[in-house]
Amino acid sequence: MAVRRGPEPGPEPGSGPVPGLALPFLLLLAVTAGRAGDARQEEAVRALARRLLGPRAAAVSLSVDPALAAGGPDIYRLWTPPGAGVAVAVAGSSGVAAAAGLYRYLRDFCGCHLSWSGAQLRLPDPLPRLRAEIRAAAPGRYRYYQNVCAQSYSFAWWDWARWEREIDWMALSGINLAPAFAGQEAVWQRVYRNLGLNQSEIDKYFTGPAFLAWNRMGNLRRWAGPLPPAWHFKQLYLQYRIVERMRSLGMTTVLPAFAGHVPQGILRVFPRVNATRLGHWSHFDCTYSCIYLLDPEDPMFQVIGTLFLKELIKEFGTDHVYSADTFNEMTPLSSDPAYLSRVSNAVFRSMTGADPKALWLMQGWLFQHQPDFWQPAQVRALLHGVPLGRMIVLDLFAESKPVYQWTESFYGQPFIWCMLHNFGGNHGLFGTVEAINHGPFAARRFPNSTMVGTGLVPEGIEQNDMVYELMNELGWRQEPLDLPSWVTRYAERRYGAPNAAAASAWRLLLRSVYNCTGVCVNHNRSPLVRRPSLRMDTELWYNASDVFEAWRLLLSAGAELGSSPAFLYDLVDVTRQAAQQLVSHYYLSIRQAFQSHALPELLTAGGVLVYDLLPELDSLLSSHSLFLLGRWLQSARAVATSDQEAEQYELNARNQVTLWGPSGNILDYANKQLGGLVLDYYAVRWSLFVSVLVESLNSGRPFHQDQFNQAVFQVERGFIYNKKRYPAVPSGDTMEISRKLFLKYYPSALRHSLAGPA
Ligand SMILES: *[C@@H]1O[C@H](CO)[C@@H](O)[C@H](O)[C@H]1NC(C)=O
Ligand SMILES: *[C@@H]1O[C@H](CO)[C@@H](O)[C@H](O)[C@H]1NC(C)=O
Ligand SMILES: *[C@@H]1O[C@H](CO)[C@@H](O)[C@H](O)[C@H]1NC(C)=O
Ligand SMILES: *[C@@H]1O[C@H](CO)[C@@H](O)[C@H](O)[C@H]1NC(C)=O
Ligand SMILES: *[C@@H]1O[C@H](CO)[C@@H](O)[C@H](O)[C@H]1NC(C)=O
Repeated sequence: MAVRRGPEPGPEPGSGPVPGLALPFLLLLAVTAGRAGDARQEEAVRALARRLLGPRAAAVSLSVDPALAAGGPDIYRLWTPPGAGVAVAVAGSSGVAAAAGLYRYLRDFCGCHLSWSGAQLRLPDPLPRLRAEIRAAAPGRYRYYQNVCAQSYSFAWWDWARWEREIDWMALSGINLAPAFAGQEAVWQRVYRNLGLNQSEIDKYFTGPAFLAWNRMGNLRRWAGPLPPAWHFKQLYLQYRIVERMRSLGMTTVLPAFAGHVPQGILRVFPRVNATRLGHWSHFDCTYSCIYLLDPEDPMFQVIGTLFLKELIKEFGTDHVYSADTFNEMTPLSSDPAYLSRVSNAVFRSMTGADPKALWLMQGWLFQHQPDFWQPAQVRALLHGVPLGRMIVLDLFAESKPVYQWTESFYGQPFIWCMLHNFGGNHGLFGTVEAINHGPFAARRFPNSTMVGTGLVPEGIEQNDMVYELMNELGWRQEPLDLPSWVTRYAERRYGAPNAAAASAWRLLLRSVYNCTGVCVNHNRSPLVRRPSLRMDTELWYNASDVFEAWRLLLSAGAELGSSPAFLYDLVDVTRQAAQQLVSHYYLSIRQAFQSHALPELLTAGGVLVYDLLPELDSLLSSHSLFLLGRWLQSARAVATSDQEAEQYELNARNQVTLWGPSGNILDYANKQLGGLVLDYYAVRWSLFVSVLVESLNSGRPFHQDQFNQAVFQVERGFIYNKKRYPAVPSGDTMEISRKLFLKYYPSALRHSLAGPA
């Protein structure tokens, strides 16, 4: 078939100096040149240093000079100038590069560390001087960050203070490309109203705040909505600050664009419009899904898409990069390559209609999610509906299922090698350290590779800091790291002091729970966080004893490191992981006892699980501010401007981490191990399971999963509406609780893991 091309003329791939690369690279360069001037970026990165270091920032000189990069990827230089006043001078080719250079200095010369779970910024006095100049060049143009799902799983309720911290972390990590998605519904609402839709038609379209990510991808509508007017105002206000700050640091913002999905009201206002209902998404029926998709040839496609983008650009300006996902987890209406090219071409044209320099950033998740549909011809057609170099594909799950390998590097479109790592913002220690340590380098060496950078795209954040610090560092490196020595230094910096036991603990974690190889999907399926049944999966990809041993080692380091916030966070996290493993052991004992009609054993194992272990885990989690259900719920309520909004937002927040839909549609997908949630949700569910099994043995009536599911649904739903207020401040002594758990369970933990893999 004839691949439809856009208006952009250009040489065929292979005619440039680097075969297949010249055109995409030149276009990317053209599009992303012309960020904020250096004076503005310099001021922004200096302000960042003052936020981070306070008065000590005076001993650091920061400058931004775009000429350093000579049109290539970012570069930073570090050196100590002669004289006494300045310990280190950092020059970056952009604000982000300078910030990354600053973090390099803090990390490698001051032993500091910054992560989601906190900062370890104890600076040596005086600040160390450098003997020789250091110069680092990024191996690719982009370091990308953010998954569209994280907008809902993690950022849904953020205020500006939290955004500011994240953007600081992004800059220090060297991230230079990231979405800025807040406030888009406000603009869409304006566009729809101008087109003639009424408010109730719009209200039936937008989901509630905790589910907007899937509304934006055409998956879901109306569920947990509507969006109150105050929501829009607050998000607009946030978005102004977000884009202003990102740009001032030299980051390229990615703005949302039109992917072709429309509210049903469009059909009332424009009865002749050709829109077709897509199928249902995931386990939702058409009450909340089956969104209309405009035909790519319908003139309204361009009208709506361009109208929206013009309005958005008028509001927020632009860096010329736009995100749109038409078929993310949605089966296209036709697999005809010509149709698929028409769709991507229509999306792209609706972008260039508003911004001739538009570059489309698209998630490549769909290709590996539905590989049966997305055969080479379909992938090629979708990608070639857009001129080469005017699209960047995020190879979203490249650490496990890289798409570039079977698509000849996305058939010539540039792509970013991304680490997905996390699904649903689940807690659970996890990593594929070997894949991320080698994958990006292999992708760059791939024949005719079109890779233009690396990315971090977790569905939810604030978990597994180590993996993200590693990936950020790799984004600036030309070759892989030596992982065991890297993790040893990581532990030292994180806790602010060398400690042999803590270092050993980290090396154990590195080789086991963080070293998943093969196709690894980090979805926490521990029985702890799943609806109980007699067929639960307790397989692990690692040696469970290594985690128990790491737990022992961390506790033994507690006397020395107990005052480090990051240490306490890790102690909670590793204890939590050990407890999660123990839940599997008790579950297997319960199942075994039930299947062999051993009532006393069933009562014993069930009793320990429900009355000891889960409440103890809950109190452990409740001792740390980052593991509190109350923090998540209160951040939702804090966005509200009325009691009614507060109720709606809290129900959104509760539903997302449990039922995920009105009837448990994507049950426990976004499970979290949080103080409050473990006790009032997971433990209650387990309690019901154990008592139903006991009842079954007593009465001789068989256990029916269906009946149990109906009964337990009432428990799950009951949690959402329990009206309880959960504390947003921690209580209890983490060290003491962890030690008590250890003394109680460690001996049996060892017995269990020696008995074989759980
Ligand atoms: C790389 O691109 C060149 C030029 O288009 C082509 O001849 C060659 O076959 C490609 N190599 C691979 C391995 O795809
Ligand atoms: C919006 O339009 C629909 C369809 O005509 C109508 O049923 C509904 O009452 C209208 N709502 C408002 C608030 O005007
Ligand atoms: C309407 O759209 C569908 C799907 O995009 C397409 O198959 C059909 O040919 C279109 N109908 C008309 C009359 O254009
Ligand atoms: C991870 O496991 C693989 C084999 O499964 C091994 O070759 C590799 O050395 C391990 N990596 C680390 C960091 O322990
Ligand atoms: C599992 O880990 C423990 C403790 O770290 C170790 O003693 C044991 O040899 C390991 N088992 C296997 C099968 O690797």
